[in-house]
Amino acid sequence: MKILMVCLGNICRSPLAEGIMQHLADKEGLDWQVDSAGTGHWHVGSPPDRRSIRAAADQGVDISKQVCRVFRPTDFDEFDLILVMDRNNLSDIMAKARNDRQRAKVRLLLDNDIVPDPYYDDTQFAPVFKLIEAGCKEIIRQYKNK
Ligand code: 4NP
Repeated sequence: MKILMVCLGNICRSPLAEGIMQHLADKEGLDWQVDSAGTGHWHVGSPPDRRSIRAAADQGVDISKQVCRVFRPTDFDEFDLILVMDRNNLSDIMAKARNDRQRAKVRLLLDNDIVPDPYYDDTQFAPVFKLIEAGCKEIIRQYKNK
């Protein structure tokens, strides 16, 4: 299965989600490929935010080699599941979808809840890591036998 994690900047939340999901899927022996992208262009080509890199490293996950990119319409064809962090991401991505098949691939990472943007609050990176980790575990539970 191919999963794309999406947030606004692709430097704080979705890089964490990519790293955590790949780490957990590998540990479970699942043949899953995980990538991430942003809806905004500001940080294209940059590594993840250093605070996300540190929060991940603290939990044994290396996200330092990731490179920021923007969401592209072909992602709807390339990925089986597109997991977004908040409701703005959801409406931005849904607005780019051209048919029901594409729309059906998109959902919030957390069931009916959002992963808040930690960009302006240094203290939120560790809690956001835990929130994303819980979401990834639940996704694995739901999809590992599909
Ligand atoms: P992210 O956080 O969507 O979790 O990557 C943000 C990072 C940067 C900006 C906004 C959100 N920004 O406006 O530059």
